[in-house]
Amino acid sequence: MGTAIPACVVTTAREGGVLVVTIDNPPVNALGVAVRQGLWAALEQAEQDAAVQAVLLLGAGTSFIAGADIREFGQPPQPPLLPDLCNRIEASPKLVIAALHGPTLGGGLEVALAAHYRLGLSAAKLGLPEVNLGLLPGAGGTQRTPRLIGVQAAAELMLSGRHMGAQEALAVGLIDDLDGGHDVRAAGLAYAQTLLAQKAPVRRTRDAGALINKAASQAALNVLKAHTAKKTPGLFSPLKILEAIQGAIDLPFDEGLKQERALFLQCLDSPQRAGLIHAFFAERETAKIPEAKAATPRPLAHIAIIGGGTMGAGITVAALDAGLQVTMIERDAPSIARGQAHVEKVYDGLIAKGRLSAEAKAAVMARYTPSTSYDDIGQVDLVIEAVFEDLDVKKTVFQELDRVCKPGAVLATNTSYLDIDAIAAVTSRPQDVVGLHFFSPANIMKLLEIVVPAKVAADVVATAFALAKKMKKTPVRAGVCDGFIGNRIMAVYRQAADYLMEDGASPYQIDEALRAFGYPMGLFQVVDLAGGDIGWAARKRRAPTRDPRARYVEISDRLCERGWFGQKTGRGFYLYPQGARTGVPDPEVLAIVDAERTRKGITPRPFTADEIIRRYMAAMVNEGAKVVQEGIALRPLDVDVTFLSGYGFPRFRGGPMKYADMVGLDKVLADLREFAQEDAWFWQPAALLETLVAQGANFDSLNHRE
Ligand code: 3HC
Ligand code: NAI
Repeated sequence: MGTAIPACVVTTAREGGVLVVTIDNPPVNALGVAVRQGLWAALEQAEQDAAVQAVLLLGAGTSFIAGADIREFGQPPQPPLLPDLCNRIEASPKLVIAALHGPTLGGGLEVALAAHYRLGLSAAKLGLPEVNLGLLPGAGGTQRTPRLIGVQAAAELMLSGRHMGAQEALAVGLIDDLDGGHDVRAAGLAYAQTLLAQKAPVRRTRDAGALINKAASQAALNVLKAHTAKKTPGLFSPLKILEAIQGAIDLPFDEGLKQERALFLQCLDSPQRAGLIHAFFAERETAKIPEAKAATPRPLAHIAIIGGGTMGAGITVAALDAGLQVTMIERDAPSIARGQAHVEKVYDGLIAKGRLSAEAKAAVMARYTPSTSYDDIGQVDLVIEAVFEDLDVKKTVFQELDRVCKPGAVLATNTSYLDIDAIAAVTSRPQDVVGLHFFSPANIMKLLEIVVPAKVAADVVATAFALAKKMKKTPVRAGVCDGFIGNRIMAVYRQAADYLMEDGASPYQIDEALRAFGYPMGLFQVVDLAGGDIGWAARKRRAPTRDPRARYVEISDRLCERGWFGQKTGRGFYLYPQGARTGVPDPEVLAIVDAERTRKGITPRPFTADEIIRRYMAAMVNEGAKVVQEGIALRPLDVDVTFLSGYGFPRFRGGPMKYADMVGLDKVLADLREFAQEDAWFWQPAALLETLVAQGANFDSLNHRE
């Protein structure tokens, strides 16, 4: 007979001398207050029952425990606190065993480390990923892990946040034994019986520590401190993690725990924690769209990619990696050979790095078919067109697709800017046409904008989201407009950067300010990497419809006219001597910038890094607000995820809209109004922003409407 403890999220059942304690708190057995109370009560029960010799902790469902309940952070803490629970587990006079069969993360691993013995099953994944949330392991992890596996290995686990498989966990000593079976209850019970039969003693991790050789540990930590300051500049929690681990070297266990708690609370209070946790939930929220609730996805096994250029080849790899059958269509034999070569190059690169075997490549390529005939794709479930960015070319392709594809096939375009309603209109089945906007390199970049034209059927949108899931992409639903969510907003902050440049900031100063803000690269470095010709073509396309009131900066055009398209031509905003990948400032570019200022009669003025960021972000946030206001993005969080996963926006800031919430929308609006005195056309505040400020509300209030 099982005994229920608070809210039934923790149940106990006695099997001989073993009290089996099962945590059942779907979806991932997070350690919310009810679980903590339940575990506390289970320990009490074990201590009071003389017949119990050992306690076996295990998780129901697919996880052991995925960590503290992230939703509780920022709310008043409720006892028992997790560190106290872990201490209580460790102090138990009865043998405590944890059996781990799935994710055992963060506070979940800390619970396991407080147990006296740990058994892993093959699918167990152990990790301390708090760093990804701007935190540090705050329930003894920074003190117990080094005592168990040494300072260097523990620090590496905490700084990377990576998941460790069971084999490796056994090898480093994070678990004591490995069971190849799948039944965690049976395996845990058998292990408990063995330990009892061996009269295994209660063994507390706090008393371990033979591996903490002070001098060697200190040397390893010093190297990690220097490396971390360089590798993750501006990040708060990695340095705090190292400070806490320092305590494991210097301090008695209880003092180390005290220091860990103080550092944990500092992290909890940091804006970086707020940004990173927003990012965590926002990324899971973007797939929750009306169509997913209303419709069932269509079947998805065989897809076709039209065009084997940069994007077509990358999408092909992403689809093959997702286990799909792929037919690639190109214009002629040389083009299809080039397309296939692009695909093979990716796999050959993995082989060269030792990350893929030749046999595995052959198995993947067996699902790939090259063709130059549309008649070969009559039976595919979904098509992704990735031909030249030209409306007429795309219309011709879609007429062909309409002719050959089976009824019900999903017809998608990877266009970056073009009107998908117009593309859908050339087919007899606009309900089947959708936008799938991948980012380059498509096999690596996480973002997938799913663009929803007026006439598309709900189950086609649901199918697009199902494809994103198969490909492990982060999908964001977007409406049709020039540039959708990401490129539309980028065009606006790019303009703000151009104005800054023409008014007095150098492109190098702007890039430096952006890197200091947390971007891995500056905007002009990105332009050079992507190729200046892409933006130039878009500007030329837009020229006839450009509003005469809009200020237009021609500096980039002057560079493109000289054939300076960036890295691929050896120079752009930066110089790339002898094919270097990192550019150096180019005095000739500065001379061109100066000449343009003179031509327009602009006297350059100085800008601080702070003003550069204020202008750049005000432009981004304002256009983001317009995108939400027009329904192009469903919620502000969709804008955040677009920029986090597709445009290198610093994750610890949570995304542009979260950043604006944290700065204060009234401040952003005040900036816009100030800048509007120079250029009322460009800096016109979004009505949504004005409304929210008038209501005293923030963007986040729009994230939670059902
Ligand atoms: N708390 C609350 N909810 C959580 C959670 C957690 N720790 N971990 C996952 N969830 C929720 C997700 O939000 C999602 O909810 P939804 O269905 O409503 O969107 C649901 O569980 C399923 O999560 P995923 O979609 O991510 O499912 P996957 O199967 O892809 O991944 C996972 C599972 C690997 C466990 C992944 O969810 C994960 O990495 N979770 C976070 C783990 C983590 O960071 N733990 C550390 C927490 S901080 C901590 O423990 C502090 C301590 O040191 C004091
Ligand atoms: P690309 O020029 O590298 O490749 C286009 C390919 O399409 C060429 O190989 C060409 O032979 C082929 N093609 C042209 N007409 C065809 C037809 N009728 N039938 C079959 N194949 C045909 O171009 P890229 O960069 O791959 O872009 C493709 C699309 O993806 C464009 O719409 C672009 O806007 C979009 N895109 C590009 C991104 C990028 O960073 N390059 C990012 C996201 C989207």
